[in-house]
Amino acid sequence: MKKYFIIGNPISHSLSPTLHNYWFKKYKINAEYKTIKADKKNIPEVIKKIREKEISGINITLPFKQLVIPFLDKLVNYAKETNSVNTVYLNSENLVVGDNTDVFGIQAGYFNQIINEKAIKPKTLILGAGGVAPSVILALNKSNIDNICLINRTFEKSIFLKKRFQNIKIEKWDNIQSVVKNFDIIINATSLGLKNGEEFNFIFNNYKKSMIYIDTVYNPIETKMIKQLKLNNIKTFNGLNMFLYQGQKSFYLWNKINPEISNDLIELLKSKLK
Ligand code: ATR
Repeated sequence: MKKYFIIGNPISHSLSPTLHNYWFKKYKINAEYKTIKADKKNIPEVIKKIREKEISGINITLPFKQLVIPFLDKLVNYAKETNSVNTVYLNSENLVVGDNTDVFGIQAGYFNQIINEKAIKPKTLILGAGGVAPSVILALNKSNIDNICLINRTFEKSIFLKKRFQNIKIEKWDNIQSVVKNFDIIINATSLGLKNGEEFNFIFNNYKKSMIYIDTVYNPIETKMIKQLKLNNIKTFNGLNMFLYQGQKSFYLWNKINPEISNDLIELLKSKLK
């Protein structure tokens, strides 16, 4: 039986085992997918097991998407451009490869749809400069949404990201409430709102009525911010879309099958989020 894992910390909230085990069963693949609550020091041993073919593949989540990189042999595709890895496997040359399916997840989950709806090029504000932020920036760039501003509590991390993605503007976190009104799309790429974690200690109050709010957090399915904005008739997307599409692409990289995102699957995932 093939073994797959997701490593992260915290990890108990992850729905990746539900997602991949559903597809393994559906496509009759003899494999199982589990979580590993990891510490940084566990990463080399997990990678070694991939090299020795004891583990067939792993997903990486917070806070290891960058930390894992020194232990890999090679970065490919968007992992190279973002320096952020969420999918690892052994390639045909026995090299441990790091790829990034988050960019595809964000594009397919949100922007493909939004671009069709918005005639003008939207101005976009990204909240956060952690593990998922470079994938959000790259997904926006790939979708030709190039008017991007990023705001993060720790300003130095914004400066660091601007060195990699020179087309972004950066703002100070203290200005968040006053700048929000300038944007058509706001994307939460912080960990704020995650189950059992910290929440925003404010709700946006001065925004365009036509604003679209996207959350990369999927557990809970509706963060406090989403609930509040929905009450004010703001169009919102929860993190489930990104989650589904990044998982679909990881599954493809491992099994060379493009698995279906069926209504049954979505209902199953939603039932786990209650
Ligand atoms: P890392 O920063 O180690 O990559 P992450 O979980 O990938 O970790 O990213 C967490 C993101 O949420 C960061 O943008 C973080 O802001 P800092 O860079 O200032 O740490 C943001 N974040 C977490 N808690 C926050 C809080 N209470 N207020 C504002 N932003 C917060």
